[in-house]
Amino acid sequence: MTALTQDQLKTLVGQAALQYVTPGSIVGVGTGSTVDKFIDALGEALKKDAGFVAGAVSSSVRSTQRLQALGVKVLEAETVTGLGVYIDGADEIDHGGHMVKGGGAALTREKIVAELAERFVCIADESKLVGTLGKFPLPVEVIPMAAAQVIRAFAQLGGTGKVREGVTTDNGNIIVDVTGLQISQPAEFERDVNQWPGVVTVGVFARNKASVCLLGTAEGVKTLN
Ligand code: 5RP
Repeated sequence: MTALTQDQLKTLVGQAALQYVTPGSIVGVGTGSTVDKFIDALGEALKKDAGFVAGAVSSSVRSTQRLQALGVKVLEAETVTGLGVYIDGADEIDHGGHMVKGGGAALTREKIVAELAERFVCIADESKLVGTLGKFPLPVEVIPMAAAQVIRAFAQLGGTGKVREGVTTDNGNIIVDVTGLQISQPAEFERDVNQWPGVVTVGVFARNKASVCLLGTAEGVKTLN
């Protein structure tokens, strides 16, 4: 049997995430290539049952456009008081459900929508599972005038920060990517870095960690709680 490609693993978890959507509800939708697979699966579900979802709250312009192309009504986050489920990918996830996110620069809106949801369902291929967060460069959304001082502050922690070239977030800010960190205490780290002046959002998701992770593996989809 030939091994599944990373793209096929993403398709599997995108499809598997459908079972967490309560029919007729409003679903929270994240951003990225794995979420694109979930949106594709949602499109198929809508062909069979046009009422499969009542609408969506999206974390990026990119996902909004894909959802609208399927005819899904996209609501603004500020018009919604709660969501049953938020489905999103991750750049890294540890065994406790803590994640690094923001590879697609959508981390701030992702955290806002995740905060609205009762459950965060993370969909990822097995390459994303790590023992300790920090191998993937940590994305941090920063107000431009604070970039140099935020990079100096990360240097104090042993990290090397670099402004992501050519990227402006949906909120008009920049992304600093930080390498060389070992994030063994994600909740404390997230709380501390979020207080630095000029930091809009740090890409550690500990407060909004995954309730469940659907991991695409060679043996099929594994569910990590
Ligand atoms: C975007 C994100 C994505 O969820 C993360 O980058 C994973 O993306 P992909 O599914 O393409 O690997 O946090 O800001």
